[in-house]
Amino acid sequence: MSIQDIQRVKEEVRARTDIVSVISDYTRLKPSGKGFTGLCPFHADKTPSFSVTPAFQSYRCWACGEKGDVFTFVQKKENLSFIEALEVLARKAGVPFDRSGFSSEQISERQEMLELNSIATGFFLDRFARSQSALDYLNSRSILKQTQDHFDIGYAPAEWDALANHLAKRHSNLALAAKIGLLRERKESSGYVDYYRNRLMFPIHDLHGNVVGFGGRAMGDEQPKYLNSPQSDVFNKSHLLYGLYFARQSLRTEIPPVFVEGYTDVVTAHQAGFEQCIATLGTAMTEDHAQILVRYSKRVILCYDGDSAGIKATLKGAEIWEQMKVEGAELLVARLPAGDDPDSILKRGDSAGFQRALDEAVPRIEYQIESALRTNDTSIESGRASALSEIVPVLATIRKRSVLDRYVQRVARLHEMYNFNVNRALESILADVQEYRARSAQRTRGYKTVEEQNGGPLEQPPTVRPPINRTLRATEGFNPNTTNWQRAGERNTTGEFKRGYKRNEPAPPPSDRTPPHVGIPALSAADKAERTLLRALMTADWHRVVADNMQGYLFASAEGREMAAWIISTPRGEDGAVDPMQLLSRIELMPNRVNIGEGHPSTSNADPAHLAGSVSVARLSDYIREVVEESTSNLLNEPLNEATISGCIRRLRDHREMLAIREIKDYLLRVDLTVDQRSDALRRLSELMRTQRGSIESGKLSPPDAV
Ligand code: UTP
Ligand code: MN
Repeated sequence: MSIQDIQRVKEEVRARTDIVSVISDYTRLKPSGKGFTGLCPFHADKTPSFSVTPAFQSYRCWACGEKGDVFTFVQKKENLSFIEALEVLARKAGVPFDRSGFSSEQISERQEMLELNSIATGFFLDRFARSQSALDYLNSRSILKQTQDHFDIGYAPAEWDALANHLAKRHSNLALAAKIGLLRERKESSGYVDYYRNRLMFPIHDLHGNVVGFGGRAMGDEQPKYLNSPQSDVFNKSHLLYGLYFARQSLRTEIPPVFVEGYTDVVTAHQAGFEQCIATLGTAMTEDHAQILVRYSKRVILCYDGDSAGIKATLKGAEIWEQMKVEGAELLVARLPAGDDPDSILKRGDSAGFQRALDEAVPRIEYQIESALRTNDTSIESGRASALSEIVPVLATIRKRSVLDRYVQRVARLHEMYNFNVNRALESILADVQEYRARSAQRTRGYKTVEEQNGGPLEQPPTVRPPINRTLRATEGFNPNTTNWQRAGERNTTGEFKRGYKRNEPAPPPSDRTPPHVGIPALSAADKAERTLLRALMTADWHRVVADNMQGYLFASAEGREMAAWIISTPRGEDGAVDPMQLLSRIELMPNRVNIGEGHPSTSNADPAHLAGSVSVARLSDYIREVVEESTSNLLNEPLNEATISGCIRRLRDHREMLAIREIKDYLLRVDLTVDQRSDALRRLSELMRTQRGSIESGKLSPPDAV
């Protein structure tokens, strides 16, 4: 297969793939403006910073800077090579793609592991079909044939080396099969034996339906009850969820996901129509699980067994869910009748009972208060006191005052003062809560933080993406009469300008140990004004107003100037607006690496500032995407009207003046100026400082060179 073939397949797959649908497997997207937004699947996002723009077939996170197209998305999320991602997406889109032309090095070990798992799944299914005892077991668990088929449940025969022989016959890599826990090395002699024997096999799928591991259930009382795949490059318990692959569709609705305890709970629940059920793989919920799930839904329901292990897992899960501090994240607890689990209640055919438990799920606080009330005899004074002493620490975890007040009222009757003076009881409980908080804060302070133990902050990963904002700065040969601006230093994270070193000199080594800022620095008011104007310039309603009143050189960045010039020269559509796709496609027609800013009329005419900044095609198209894609943090938070537009122009003018004044001041600091040069500069400075921002001068934006 040639590069051209791959390019063709890629474009065909792209055309047939809905990026929103692919990304929706990882995070819930809500329509917003021209695109969709949601919690970012690449970092621990607390408010929706992630946007997908179908018109561009692209995604971007405004907080961590991740961006790209559907191929990079799958590559990054699944840790695949480009070819592998292409294969995954081609299969989904129904585009034929034969990777066999690639040499074996290009097929990663990971891919080989998945292939082994796929062969094993087929083998277990085949053996299931031929085993009466497996079928009997399935029946005893009330699992229907079609459910077995849906989940690919198989059977590992009670032989020593059935799978080992099967794989050997196919010349599979047996050492690799051992690495992912399909086989085990023989102890006495060389060779391999099967890892799973006489077990019902539950394949565990990733989000694309690849089998990444197995859970094997003993058919009788053998130990362990479940034998799971060992950790490997394809199998990581801490972020896999059993059933998530089958729950995907259901999780795109408003139905909150439900955590149940085990494999059989998931299977039985799905069989009964509760497709929102998932389970961890025998571990408690981890932060990774929570992060994965919160992107589908901020509400999650835990439906664990009522035994002590179940309660512990519930509270642990609640802690993790709340610690993410995602806006609006809420964990509810569903309570089943004592001794029941989802499997047992559904096996009885009591779907209504299960549904009721989900409908009546309560917040974690409520759940804890209830269990304190249940486990103490509140008909006697000492029982009430004891319940209250269990409840106070629970109340101390409530951050919101209004919520706290509500719960304090609910439990006030437990207080000894309640029958004499309700207010005194309320105050006393609140005081206890405060005191408990103060004490536990002290306790926390008594320990070393992770940072202290490590002797300093941990190294942060390098900035995901360089700051995009350039600022204008005078060059060495600055001549105050013909202000010669040049793009130079970058703005640092506090929005100040880097000073103290000359252009072309490497930046001095960082002197402090504070971790570098990760992500994109906040945009300045001038940047926002620029973007607001550029967007306005693309609309039918405001195009003329901006074009007639804004002068190109006032844009804060070289990218902004270029973009404005290109918008002006792009024919507007029937609706009078500029189509961003058309704008982009015109620019992307330019050969790569040609600096389109150079010597072009909008930047080399007799404007007050001679603007020599040049922008590469890639940078410009990137900038355009940024401006067009939805992000509220990108714009001034004002509705678009004439006042906003003139306000933006004024802001940019002020910005320009501020820079000019700063440059002259810098210039005046030089020691090698002649008397004439100095007085010249001083004169210009006082002129500049005198200039009052008058009314908006009329000006015109000029188009770029004809392409
Ligand atoms: P349970 O013991 O509750 O199993 O463990 P279950 O899911 O109800 O299974 P059945 O109904 O008895 O067949 C809950 C989960 O803990 C993990 C499995 O993921 C299981 O589904 N587990 C349990 C193991 O990984 N290994 C074990 O030996 C036991
Ligand atoms: Mn169970």
